[in-house]
Amino acid sequence: MKKILLLPGDGIGHEIMEQAKKVLACFPNLFEYEEGYIGGAAIDKYGTPFPETTLKQALEADAVLLGAVGGPKWDSLPSENRPERGLLAIRKALGLYANIRPIDIWKPLIDLSPLKPSFLKDVSFVVVRELTGDLYFGTPRGVHGEKGSRSAFNTMVYSEEEIKRIAHTGFRLARNRKKKLCSIDKSNVLEAMALWREIVEEVHQEYQDVALSHMYVDNAAMQIIKKPSDFDVILTPNMFGDILSDEAAVLCGSLGLLPSASLGSKHALYEPIHGSAPDIAGMGIANPIGMILSAAMMLETSCGSSDLAFKIRSAVAAVLDAGFRTKDSWSDGMVLVSTDEMGTKIAEHILR
Ligand code: IPM
Ligand code: MG
Repeated sequence: MKKILLLPGDGIGHEIMEQAKKVLACFPNLFEYEEGYIGGAAIDKYGTPFPETTLKQALEADAVLLGAVGGPKWDSLPSENRPERGLLAIRKALGLYANIRPIDIWKPLIDLSPLKPSFLKDVSFVVVRELTGDLYFGTPRGVHGEKGSRSAFNTMVYSEEEIKRIAHTGFRLARNRKKKLCSIDKSNVLEAMALWREIVEEVHQEYQDVALSHMYVDNAAMQIIKKPSDFDVILTPNMFGDILSDEAAVLCGSLGLLPSASLGSKHALYEPIHGSAPDIAGMGIANPIGMILSAAMMLETSCGSSDLAFKIRSAVAAVLDAGFRTKDSWSDGMVLVSTDEMGTKIAEHILR
């Protein structure tokens, strides 16, 4: 029996987590669950976005399933106490250095994409984002001086070891796909990025069956829109990966559809890539599919159950094929369903 820690978080986190639970309940006796607090919910209960209790639960779990964090209620807090810091802290504490964000087009939703369908043919790639280094965690960081003459600073820093381990993750993944890896950097300007490129090339020596290319991040931002079908695995540092993965998500038509896995050598966390959407929280209109597909990634990666993950993905495809849509992805002629109904439809399909 696998031990799963559920961290619904804030905003729509709860409603979409309910749907993931409903879907996982289709496979009884495989998991035991515990619930915990992170982000704003944890600030309200414990006064901190990542309490000790949550850390302890997470360290003991086989996998963590997370909804989303953040909301206007906590926006005025100093940056080190904001809900988002809870997310960064759990990534760091569990050593989740590899963030995997698959970008796949769901055929029934192709018209939702701002790109012409002809550009989207054969689009299927994975963003492998380094998640515990770079500007997000580099020191020194802070603010100097008095108001009126302050300067603020962050540090982009990567060690060879950090680059090596994420490069291995990227190459291993590419090996099981189309054997193409595009590494993103800004080595023409930044020392940390020149080291990134050098080490990626070094690691490539062990993966000669994978075709390696390099791209500056500004060009990558353009190519993801111009020729998305050219990509297979995109390997990227933390900061650039944050930006490029949101851009890539637009190709799919709705941010609500996309799952992710954050992996370390001992721990794993799964979460949809969207935020907590406080403006629609509690309205029952959020799209639970990104959350449900994150649960599928968990089954595949942390529970060794690719067959169950496949069942979930097939059920999602069938329900979309049948025309059921939450509000974010609804269009004329489709059947509008609530968050809860979408979860139920997918679960029913699995059990069929
Ligand atoms: C993401 C998010 C987070 C990040 C925020 C919420 C801290 O944008 O997971 O992409 O910047 O990594
Ligand atoms: Mg982001």
